[in-house]
Amino acid sequence: MGPPGSGKGTQAQRLVKDHGWVQLSTGDLFRDHIKRETGLGKRVKGYLDRGEYVPDDVTVDMVRERLREISKDTRIVFDGFPRTAAQTEALDALLAEFDRRVGGVILLEVPRDELLTRLGKRGREQGRTDDTPEVIGKRLDVYEQQTRPVIDRYHGKGVVRRVDGLGTIDDIARRLAAAAEA
Ligand code: AP5
Ligand code: MG
Repeated sequence: MGPPGSGKGTQAQRLVKDHGWVQLSTGDLFRDHIKRETGLGKRVKGYLDRGEYVPDDVTVDMVRERLREISKDTRIVFDGFPRTAAQTEALDALLAEFDRRVGGVILLEVPRDELLTRLGKRGREQGRTDDTPEVIGKRLDVYEQQTRPVIDRYHGKGVVRRVDGLGTIDDIARRLAAAAEA
């Protein structure tokens, strides 16, 4: 878990490359649907472009479809899911359905000014449609409003492992692998 730009995707890909995990990124799955112009893609595009969360039922159904494709003995790094209280409850049900359990929750901590720098840079270089100054601000607000309480709840359960998300990608990958016991 972590705010927009904290390096969730970058570090999830390192767990895939270095440790053979499978990444389940709801953002990437949505963007893939949008690119392929599927029915789901058309339904969710507006939410992503505005920096708002896609409705929980749509998100959870998509996660379930993806989980069906992943073999049972593979470790999964969830990237960007769950993000709301309802998704947290849905995840518990999905884990029971697929006979899986959560090994831990990793929180990437990065200060807001660095998030703005990273996302602004990617917006200029790659043109991701939600990396504009207005939408970046909206994404950070939505994260604080809807996802921060979820993290607080996980904190209360004592399962959150905080990882300093500042530094080189390699440094952070080492910290994260230690935190994930990868
Ligand atoms: P999502 O795709 O998850 O985007 P996000 O959370 O806004 O975060 P990013 O992907 O931008 O950042 P990241 O933390 O993955 O960092 P990254 O590695 O890319 O979600 C997009 C949208 O989809 C949402 O707004 C919503 O509409 C929808 N959505 C997704 N999940 C949903 C859900 N569960 N429920 C409802 N709706 C959902 O790095 C960012 C940049 O920084 C990159 O350019 C990278 O190269 C750079 N960088 C990474 N690490 C470093 C470093 N150590 N130093 C310097 N730069 C770095
Ligand atoms: Mg990402």
